[in-house]
Amino acid sequence: MCGIFGYLGPRQASTILLDGLRRLEYRGYDSTGIAVKNGAIGIHKKVGKVADLMTVLPSEISGNVGIAHTRWATHGGVTDANAHPHESANGKVVIVHNGIIENARMLRTSLSVQGVELQSETDSEVLAHIIERELSVDNHPENAVRRTLHQIRGTWGICVLFLEHDSIVCARNGSPLIIGQGENEMFVSSDPHALTPHTQRVVFLEDGEIATLTAHSMSLSTLKGKNFAANITVLEQEWGDSELGDYPHFMIKEIYEQADALRHCISGRLDRVDGNGRLGGLKLEPRKLSSVPHVRLLGCGTAYNAAEIGQILIEGLARIPAVAHIASEFRHNDPVINPNALHFAITQSGETADTLSAVKEIQLKGGSVYGVVNVVGSSIARECGKGVYIHSGPEQAVASTKAFSNMVAALTMFALQIGRSRSISREKGKEIIKELQQVPHLIEEYLEHQGPISEAVELIKEAKSVLFLGRGISAPVAKEGALKLMEIAYIPCLAYPAGEMKHGPIALLEEGSPVVFIAPNDHVKTKTISAIHECRARGAKIILIHEQGDDIAVEGDVSIPVPRVHSLLSPLLTVIPTQLIAYHTALALDCNVDRPRNLAKSVTVE
Ligand code: F6R
Repeated sequence: MCGIFGYLGPRQASTILLDGLRRLEYRGYDSTGIAVKNGAIGIHKKVGKVADLMTVLPSEISGNVGIAHTRWATHGGVTDANAHPHESANGKVVIVHNGIIENARMLRTSLSVQGVELQSETDSEVLAHIIERELSVDNHPENAVRRTLHQIRGTWGICVLFLEHDSIVCARNGSPLIIGQGENEMFVSSDPHALTPHTQRVVFLEDGEIATLTAHSMSLSTLKGKNFAANITVLEQEWGDSELGDYPHFMIKEIYEQADALRHCISGRLDRVDGNGRLGGLKLEPRKLSSVPHVRLLGCGTAYNAAEIGQILIEGLARIPAVAHIASEFRHNDPVINPNALHFAITQSGETADTLSAVKEIQLKGGSVYGVVNVVGSSIARECGKGVYIHSGPEQAVASTKAFSNMVAALTMFALQIGRSRSISREKGKEIIKELQQVPHLIEEYLEHQGPISEAVELIKEAKSVLFLGRGISAPVAKEGALKLMEIAYIPCLAYPAGEMKHGPIALLEEGSPVVFIAPNDHVKTKTISAIHECRARGAKIILIHEQGDDIAVEGDVSIPVPRVHSLLSPLLTVIPTQLIAYHTALALDCNVDRPRNLAKSVTVE
């Protein structure tokens, strides 16, 4: 979604801003723009990619201070005029904004009544005009921004450039903003990974905070005007390789990275002697774990699918109720929160607004929430303050793959830990650990022999719709496979627990309809076979993902074997063919695999 990058220092700002924009690209966007100050403030913006912006830029843009933006449309269509930056009527104030101004309509009307001609349909533009007005009161940039924000309702990460001042003022409320401190230069971004090529020394702004930046200094204060000292965090030097390398797309690169990502996730977190999980970041003693009444897991999209697997693992191993919730629904249903229960917020980006709101709702009602998060230092990780980093490394394709696997792995380790504190034996714990440690190797083995993926793609690519079915722990895998294919190949997909098929979705089947079955060799397999027969009897073509060497293979028109593993760990293998099917189908249909239309990597609006 929207991204911000800003720079002050001795170098040419435009080069650094454009590089910053490229590093924000993976988040998904529909237009871009930059503003650089050099005497006047020059603004350049364009619908499309950073490459499209480059086509309208002059060959040289001088200036050492500037701000830049990638926009993902919320208020107003995808047009050059709606792209950021936006300038005030006299051109002396220029802003970029992430978030939503809820009272924008009222503010736009009031500005119009005062004679301001608004140039865009956005909510953001009002900020530039109001700051201009407030600046005329005392010519103090920070105070002008502060007074403006007191008139705004909604969420913001904003950066403001002033023609007559050498500073950038930025502020945060519900939309992340991170300041990077370099040698005699200062950076600001909505994404820490856009900063790491320049500096590891960062300050995460919190909600309700304002910063005034120059090349040499940052001064921090609250919306109420109270100054405070910067708390510098040193980011990890290398978060992982975020370049494409020899791969044609990030999605396939990330599918291949799953084995190593999983190794990072489980490394040092398994106690082979005691057969236990060792998730130190949870700060949960066995005594606490043994008295937890229930567990709730929250996430959106892929993270929710991982939560559903976590639910089955936790109930199965700890014998306490566990429930997965769609985070975007959670707080609107006025949930009852038990302060003794455990809540997990599962999120790759750590910035998903719906998940963050759910976290705040739980906290407001006295509950404690643990993060299961990929992006270190992200809003949800910091809001929770405790939890598990899943260590997938940067995930740049919009379609999540390696983060899903590591969410499942993290929840497996938690299930083991809570299970050991309650019901399962050391021997059973050791058995699961032994198998979990084998999984990275089994993933590599599968990726070397992927089975007839191309035959599956042939059955799917022209289909009107595709049905994904699985039972038990494979039902969420079916959902994840459907989500992946739908989001990158734009084929309508339905996913159901296989037993539900005959209660409705069966009506869709006709001669040649493709149905993907996830059927590892577990206790529900025979039931799944019945569903396969029911589909086949209606002319469906069966794409079957199954355990290597299992007789069930004969049931598929296209059968894709994955290596054998403990049935509780099967999602870590069965999901991979579904990722490959989605990837290759999208390629066959000439879709933009890494940047599917309308989607964003980090969904920072509710
Ligand atoms: C699917 C996908 C989305 C995200 C969802 C939550 O491939 O990427 O469904 O899973 O937007 O995102 P995070 O995990 O960042 O909270």
